[in-house]
Amino acid sequence: MTQDNHICSRIENMRGLDPAQRLEAVGQAAGLSPEDLNILAGRDVLDMARADGMIENVVGKFELPLGVATNFVVNGKEYLVPMAVEEPSVVAAASYMAKIARGFGGFKTNATAPLMRAQVQVLGLGDPHAARQRILSNRDSLIAAANKKDTLLVELGGGCQDIEVHVFDDTPVGPMVVAHLIVDVRDAMGANTVNTMAEALAPEVEQITGGTVRLRILSNLADKRIVRARVELPPEALDTKDLNGADVARGMVEACTLAIIDPYRAATHNKGIMNGIDPVVLATGNDWRAIEAGAHAYAARDGRYTSLTRWELTADGGLAGSIELPLALGLVGGATKTHPSAQAALRLMDVTSAVELAEVTAAVGLAQNMAALRALSTEGIQKGHMALHARNIAILAGATGADVDRIARALVASGDVSAANAQKLLTDD
Ligand code: MEV
Repeated sequence: MTQDNHICSRIENMRGLDPAQRLEAVGQAAGLSPEDLNILAGRDVLDMARADGMIENVVGKFELPLGVATNFVVNGKEYLVPMAVEEPSVVAAASYMAKIARGFGGFKTNATAPLMRAQVQVLGLGDPHAARQRILSNRDSLIAAANKKDTLLVELGGGCQDIEVHVFDDTPVGPMVVAHLIVDVRDAMGANTVNTMAEALAPEVEQITGGTVRLRILSNLADKRIVRARVELPPEALDTKDLNGADVARGMVEACTLAIIDPYRAATHNKGIMNGIDPVVLATGNDWRAIEAGAHAYAARDGRYTSLTRWELTADGGLAGSIELPLALGLVGGATKTHPSAQAALRLMDVTSAVELAEVTAAVGLAQNMAALRALSTEGIQKGHMALHARNIAILAGATGADVDRIARALVASGDVSAANAQKLLTDD
């Protein structure tokens, strides 16, 4: 059962439609305005003046396909998920796994408050441990000074909440003290807010410690801004044409185990997770480098790089998947506000807080990982990839409309998925 939100994320035969039909279906399902549909279609979205204002030395704009993943149910609410990405299979795989999951309650998530860290580095100290204690003794006045820098955030229920101090006794540049500001940034990604606070506090930190402040900058290891998602499936949910679901589930657990114990596998495994996460981050105008940095740093937090997900067999032979990672995503500020496509994408998702956006995004990452493990532990990924790759080759060779699928199928059946073969098949018609 899903909550009574107006969106239904199940759109029949989405892949069989053409882009205009899909747009219409998505618009109807999500109740979007014609203006939003125009923007999602990418028609003259980012005017040159706006693009020129966003970064420097602008010469043009760069386009990517925007897909919509269907079938997502997260905490009982239906979501259509915008994904900007160049890699075939990603949107299809997420949608397919979400379709399987929705039959069994979909994805369940939870998250911490949106707490970001900023670091203030202090050097030139002979007594770093005493300096740490001096900072902690001034905790309340430092928090108050930080919060003076963003009274609106405080009014919204956020603001600097705590100060941590880390000591590095012996570094090549002498003892080092690093004060951390822990800031609830509410619906912002938070970089600007915490950087401003860290810079503002520097003189007071110098005065308190007697040292010299150098860096004043956020940490992308946002380990206090954690999002978790899980999914639970009975074995029959994983039945394939040739395999029984219990075997598939066991294969997925074994595949995940390699990612847990071996960084060489974990890197690829986590890349697959980011295949789901980054396209949502990009489509919603968020900072995907920050998300990447945070995810991989978190995966190595215990000193050894490992998997961001866990797949386990439940007591009754089912499969339980879970993911935990930091996701510093915002709804306000930056490109989320200035890029019209990001705004339309957020309206399509119908999220009302940055935490909700992060929770859905984590669920997409888990779905993507589920798809990869399911494919890798059974038939491998090349068969599915090849089918989609064949579509691209058919289009490049000039196929249009219904011919695209027909030529793609013929390419796969022939075992020669090449442009030359696609040309031949088209001219043989
Ligand atoms: C390809 O972009 C992603 C995968 O390699 C992820 C994985 O191996 O888990 C399929």
